[in-house]
Amino acid sequence: MSANGTAQTRISDTPEQLAHEVAGWIVEQASKPRTRFSLCLSGGETPKHLYELLATPAYVAHMPWDRTHCFWGDERMVPRDDPRSNYHMAWDALLRHVPIPVENIHAIPTEHMSPAAGAAAYATELKRFYGADVLDSSRPLFDLTLLGLGEDGHIASLFPGSPALTETERWVIPVMGETAPDRITLTYPVLASSSVTAFVVAGERKRNALAGVLAGDAALPASRLQPRGAVYWFIDRAAAATPAFSGAQ
Ligand code: 6PG
Repeated sequence: MSANGTAQTRISDTPEQLAHEVAGWIVEQASKPRTRFSLCLSGGETPKHLYELLATPAYVAHMPWDRTHCFWGDERMVPRDDPRSNYHMAWDALLRHVPIPVENIHAIPTEHMSPAAGAAAYATELKRFYGADVLDSSRPLFDLTLLGLGEDGHIASLFPGSPALTETERWVIPVMGETAPDRITLTYPVLASSSVTAFVVAGERKRNALAGVLAGDAALPASRLQPRGAVYWFIDRAAAATPAFSGAQ
């Protein structure tokens, strides 16, 4: 899975324990000495409770929000106040409750522009933040990237069979006509440019996709991600109940 093929797996008995496990681990990662902490957030349902936990006193005080920058791996082409918006979910569950400078919140633009224009604008924003137009494998863009896993094995908005899977030049692209609403997604090279990548996977309905990814099924978009840095799988017992984990703690 990672560039050196290793990954750490942590299995939690319940979704609640999983959320606490990941929240504590994110604070640990964020607290490492560095001038800024760049965090790429995932959307969907799974991380919502994790975000809510990070907004609680037990975690807020330990998170360096003043130097944390938040980005998104993908977004739905809906207004920011739309309940389907990944930005909206993270804002409502976490960001509006914590002392993060508003200029450190880098949402994917979706309003009053086409998906292509939104994608191009976000690529410009990422390159401005990174300080270069070309990714350097020795200098990851993100310190931490959170990823969910779709039942079909998709990550961000990289869906099975999509032409987006073969994009290696553009940092951000529109995803049209594959889902409703259309989407904007970071591409593999950008998602892979991370010091640490954490997959957070919960629930029985994710078992098959998870087993397929861990078996290296190349038809599943998650299998094809080659993260530059360390990889962690945070999984709950319900998702892990497959032979792939028979020996795991
Ligand atoms: C999105 C996500 C997507 C998500 C998976 C899992 O915009 O929906 O970025 O990649 O992580 O679809 O979603 P659930 O957590 O809702 O199962």
